[in-house]
Amino acid sequence: MPGLIERYRERLPFAPNDPVVTLHEGSTPLVAAPFLSEQVDARVYLKLEGANPTGSFKDRGMTCAVSAAVREGARAVICASTGNTAASAAAYAARAGLRGVVIVPDGKIATGKLAQALMHGARVIAIHGNFDQALTLVRALADSHPIALVNSVNDFRLEGQKTAAFELLEELDGELDALCIPVGNAGNVTAYWKGFVESASAPRLLGFQAEGAAPLVRGAPVAAPETVASAIRIGNPARWEEAMAAMTASRGAIRAVSDEEILDAYRLLACREGVFCEPASAASVAGLLKYGAEGARTVACVLTGHGLKDPDTALNQDHAVIACEAEIGALERVVLG
Ligand code: F0G
Repeated sequence: MPGLIERYRERLPFAPNDPVVTLHEGSTPLVAAPFLSEQVDARVYLKLEGANPTGSFKDRGMTCAVSAAVREGARAVICASTGNTAASAAAYAARAGLRGVVIVPDGKIATGKLAQALMHGARVIAIHGNFDQALTLVRALADSHPIALVNSVNDFRLEGQKTAAFELLEELDGELDALCIPVGNAGNVTAYWKGFVESASAPRLLGFQAEGAAPLVRGAPVAAPETVASAIRIGNPARWEEAMAAMTASRGAIRAVSDEEILDAYRLLACREGVFCEPASAASVAGLLKYGAEGARTVACVLTGHGLKDPDTALNQDHAVIACEAEIGALERVVLG
């Protein structure tokens, strides 16, 4: 498959001769989830966005944001991030020959994401503060310096991310009743809605936030958000109004799931469906299990990032490695016992 600008160019703001920065993102697998389907009595599918080149859905937005930045003559890109945007911005900046600068909350991003941003040669800056503070700072910086802001406040990000909605509708022949999706800064749910509206086919949007970081559920910003799902540890989403408007227009809902429910879904996906996603992604499935399919016949859950992004959380899940002597009798005992 080509990258998504090439695949969907007539529905994206790029002319035939515009520069394209791509790692062949998009066209991710949509897999049936038989165990979940039985649990909630609906046909449940998982959209594996962790199969994108840097392991998250951010690549869909980043190919567009970085391509547009190159078109505008930018020399550097910057973002605030809970980790995945940083990894993706760093990769696409490297690909484009631009400088990449990423601002992250100190100690609060998953190990794999940090490794990615550093490996791609971005300048990684850890602030003593949370994502919301980081975003406020980079917005101020990008306002007064010639450096392209590639957070989802950049409309090109949403343009790219809306293509996931196109893919879903194509693969399901338009038969989609509900979309379960984790919500952090609320860019992705806004982008999906844009894609559905442009396709004139709109499922219910069921958005899920972590209980300790659920400003949209509470109706007020959360000053000190906390959750095991570090990707969505966000207290004041930038796309607040658009996301809520999308929820209303789709007759959907935004609800909270606890960290325990998120981790239950995270383990269930890995053990029962064979799909390893990161904790934030599992919020979509946690929500589906908690609230049910509510009459929807076909449901898609967006698994936004790969499980390998966050090895520390995975290794904390109570699975023990079995030590064994390098000897056949000992091996037989542990294998067959
Ligand atoms: N899932 C994952 C794995 C994410 O990394 C994010 C956001 C979301 C869900 C929520 O998407 O913000 O569009 O509502 N991560 C951003 C980042 C904030 O910096 O990587 P959203």
